[in-house]
Amino acid sequence: MLSEKTIQVIKSTVPVLEIHGTAITKRFYQMMFTAHPELLNIFNHANQHQGRQQTALANAVYAAAVNIEKLESILPVVKQIAHKHRSLGVKPEHYPIVGENLLAAIKDVLGDAATDEIIQAWAEAYGVIADAFIGVEADMYAQAEQQTGGWSGDRAFRVARKVQESDVITSFYLVPEDGGAVASFEPGQYISVKLEIPEEANTHIRQYSLSDSPDKPYYRISVKREDVYQDKPAGKVSNYLHNEIKQGDTLMLSVPAGTFTLDQQDARPVVLISGGVGLTPMVSMLETLAHTNPDRKVTFIHAAQNGNVHALKQQVTDLASRSPQVNVKWCYERPTDADRELGQFDKEGYIDLPWLQQIIATTDASFYFCGPVKFMSTVNRLLKELGVSDSDIHYEFFGPAGSLEQA
Ligand code: HEM
Repeated sequence: MLSEKTIQVIKSTVPVLEIHGTAITKRFYQMMFTAHPELLNIFNHANQHQGRQQTALANAVYAAAVNIEKLESILPVVKQIAHKHRSLGVKPEHYPIVGENLLAAIKDVLGDAATDEIIQAWAEAYGVIADAFIGVEADMYAQAEQQTGGWSGDRAFRVARKVQESDVITSFYLVPEDGGAVASFEPGQYISVKLEIPEEANTHIRQYSLSDSPDKPYYRISVKREDVYQDKPAGKVSNYLHNEIKQGDTLMLSVPAGTFTLDQQDARPVVLISGGVGLTPMVSMLETLAHTNPDRKVTFIHAAQNGNVHALKQQVTDLASRSPQVNVKWCYERPTDADRELGQFDKEGYIDLPWLQQIIATTDASFYFCGPVKFMSTVNRLLKELGVSDSDIHYEFFGPAGSLEQA
């Protein structure tokens, strides 16, 4: 337990640290990777370059510090982060390294303003926060290993099939090389893929949502090839998967993880909304619902630029044609001439309020959505304008979690 005095010091310094939060975490990563270059095998370098991870870590540490007297109130957030940590292989021995470098970075950025008393208080607080994470993660590691078909660490999977789903999205069907069972998962969860890319100094780890239902003897991921876009470089991992990984090759995976999951007990209608490659967890949810809960009404809305980049269309169309409770709507931003000839889309342009009012029968439903941040921010706003209650809104960020209100 932290003393009253320590809590007071933490509370009085949170605002100062918030102001310098990004500078501190930026300095923290520089220091930590210089002292422990092996950690570059765990962290996503693309997120580092874009500064996204810096903000995520800063936000989490300050949120925890603000709630230091009632850490249990932020348990859902801790769990979400812990899922990611477990999936990446973060271990208890990593926490002191992060703590030591975080405190050194606070000292470095704040200079004389960071008195011994302040540093001591933050060291104690970090210890409490770290212990909370370590405890939650220990349970998750044990669960991952004990579940049927489960394992700990990495397991080798063979690419049984590689299927091009659109101009930019390719699916990989993955089966365990040891011939054993695969652990079940909740639709909406992801796996981490660990890759050694020739001539790259460090291992790369990426998370991909599982895009099929959990009742299969394989895992399927559907990966978007990230091309150069404005000032964003091409995605190293997605391009390697698309261009170099072939049928028969091996990929190392960790057990499925994640808290963006479908509530299968809820009997009310469900609305699944996706933009671009954000459709992968939605297809998993749709497939699962169609098998396990054929009476539950589903509206599946997908927005894509046009038919050329619209993945898994056939699978969803086939499923809807045999499932009268499933209603599918496509929205194309800029349909091609071929799309127009085929007439296989329901709306041109962007998802907007009048269209949602037309196609969503009731707001007494669960809403799940996933896609690019701007898309999710718009959908979030539209659902609120429709009158959907906050507790019925569920969404997933690709990459470090953030806040849609700030997007
Ligand atoms: C991701 C917080 C300790 C490695 C994250 C995220 C947060 C976070 C908020 C983003 C989660 C998301 O995207 O859903 C924290 C806090 C820690 C802590 C508050 C200490 C109390 C650690 C430690 C390690 C670690 C000890 C291991 C060295 C990572 C990695 C990611 C991550 C590799 C994924 C981010 C990426 O690759 O870009 N953490 N973390 N974290 N964390 Fe931690």
